[in-house]
Amino acid sequence: MDMIDKLIIEFGRATVAHWSVAQNRDWLEYIKTLLLEKKVKNLLEIGTFKGVTTAFMSQFVNHIYTIDKNTIHSKGKIFPIDLWKFLGIKNITYKIMNSGSLEFKKFLKGISFDFVFIDGEHISPFPAIDFDTTKSCGRVLFHDYFKNNRFPGINLVVDKLSSVEINEPFAYWEETSDEKD
Ligand SMILES: C[S@@+](CC[C@H](N)C(=O)[O-])C[C@H]1O[C@@H](n2cnc3c(N)ncnc32)[C@H](O)[C@@H]1O
Repeated sequence: MDMIDKLIIEFGRATVAHWSVAQNRDWLEYIKTLLLEKKVKNLLEIGTFKGVTTAFMSQFVNHIYTIDKNTIHSKGKIFPIDLWKFLGIKNITYKIMNSGSLEFKKFLKGISFDFVFIDGEHISPFPAIDFDTTKSCGRVLFHDYFKNNRFPGINLVVDKLSSVEINEPFAYWEETSDEKD
């Protein structure tokens, strides 16, 4: 039984439903392949939600820093922490903060990361803010990019970039020499 099945049994099917990347095994497989191919060490995630995708990704990297502007509760506990404890995961740092805040900028100065997974607020100006604040690490994966402009705030950022690999609903960007400031 894999990690996602275990979580569904313990916490219910709703754990992986709706907003989470974990609702789709092909999407998880895409992320797993990318993280392994790119040999990602320290990953920053914007948009923890229930922490299921965070848990999944934690298997393939050294450490994950993940932030969310909201706490998600279940059984009176903070759900992501509950869930990671259940799985015995110890390589996740979780902060409740807004990616647009000064607090987040300060937090970034104290950590080192080589890959960002942007899956927070989908409307403008947040995807642009999230990208600008974190792009210095050189590798950014956006979730919920659709060519049909379903989330215009995300297209506004991604469509301007060269060296983007589109794999709906993902867009993966890597810095190239011509995109350096
Ligand atoms: C689509 S869900 C993330 C799903 C998660 N990555 C997964 O695959 O399970 C979006 C999350 O981003 C959070 N969020 C939205 N705007 C944010 C912001 N400005 N800063 C931090 N978190 C934010 C929301 O509270 C929500 O939990």
